[in-house]
Amino acid sequence: MKTEQFFATCPRGLEALLSDELRELGAQQISPTHGGVGFTGAFALCYRVNLHSRLASRVLLRVGGGGYVDEQDIYDGTLSFDWPSMFRVDQTFMIRVTATRCPLHSLEFVTLRIKDAVCDRFRDATGERPSIDTREPDVRIHAWITEDTCTLYLDTSGASLYKRGLRKQAGIAPLNENLAAGLLKMAGWQPGTPLFDPMCGSGTILLEATLMALNIAPGSFREFGFQNLVWFDADAWQAERAAAEAARMPVSPQAIYGRDLFGRSLKDAETNFACAGLLDAVSLTQGNVLESPAPAGAGLIVTNPPYGVRIGEQAELAAFYPELGHWLKRQCAGWTAYILSADMNLPKLIRLQASKRTPLYNGALECRVFEYRIVAGSARR
Ligand SMILES: C[S@@+](CC[C@H](N)C(=O)[O-])C[C@H]1O[C@@H](n2cnc3c(N)ncnc32)[C@H](O)[C@@H]1O
Repeated sequence: MKTEQFFATCPRGLEALLSDELRELGAQQISPTHGGVGFTGAFALCYRVNLHSRLASRVLLRVGGGGYVDEQDIYDGTLSFDWPSMFRVDQTFMIRVTATRCPLHSLEFVTLRIKDAVCDRFRDATGERPSIDTREPDVRIHAWITEDTCTLYLDTSGASLYKRGLRKQAGIAPLNENLAAGLLKMAGWQPGTPLFDPMCGSGTILLEATLMALNIAPGSFREFGFQNLVWFDADAWQAERAAAEAARMPVSPQAIYGRDLFGRSLKDAETNFACAGLLDAVSLTQGNVLESPAPAGAGLIVTNPPYGVRIGEQAELAAFYPELGHWLKRQCAGWTAYILSADMNLPKLIRLQASKRTPLYNGALECRVFEYRIVAGSARR
């Protein structure tokens, strides 16, 4: 069986955890790098990774590449690839170019040349060319350009994998689903351990935890880009889906708790759980984090508190964080808290000693995951 080369992208900071996940899914030659992990396997491996990965953003299949000096080299390299063996001329496609240290003047022009080469290859083979759709194409082609190489990939995911096809209400500042899952893995959370998000918003962290607890494959609710490729094997895909469905556990109450100050946010969380048929698994209550005790004797708190952009908000948060530290110390002895924040003032203001700080990127935004082990009379700074 032919061995394919893949690259799974992910939020920066999750590469090591994604490598572990890929290993468990049967990937070979795993090589983490900034923002993703390279791996090899049979083509059908991309069915399993797309269906089961909680951390990847996309799974790309390498189809070609090589060195270049100018745009013409990139055009020639793209033209040399047999695109009609990958998708049909009546399907739409788009090109996405990402680059680092690329010396060429315009990435837009490079994008245009790659598109021309794909269309010309089709025209030579069929007399027609496929159309472009930059919103919802059937096929996405990625080009990764460095100083002197251009690598071409077919995107086997389609829409980003964090779009689980589950969340109906997004709330004010929702986390992407794969970042939420990464936060839970970073915290070392295991189903069965009580989990509490006291500022849960639309419930993204809790929903990811519930999928993990009930062994529900995160891709069970959506379609994928590989389904549009010529060599898509519907039987192999159905077998993969059926195996995932059989491993799914029935919905039952879990020690997964959410709280939010605002009824509107909580309503969003409830809607999301209800649409997924998982409302019975979770316990959601409205309330001020500062005014209520933790819901169990011990466990993990995993949360991303509000962070301020405007001056007024920052002043409010400067008052809120010390209160949060006080609440953790008073009400949460026995718990370990993992707090994701882009606000580097948080540790100073919360006035508790962080036992770990791990960098994690929310898109381009550099954040930290602060770990606080709360014991009775926890060290206050
Ligand atoms: C950054 S958002 C969390 C987003 C959430 N992780 C999601 O994916 O939807 C912060 C949340 O904290 C809530 N919040 C702010 N102050 C609070 C308080 N005193 N008690 C409880 N929740 C609070 C806000 O309503 C907001 O939903």
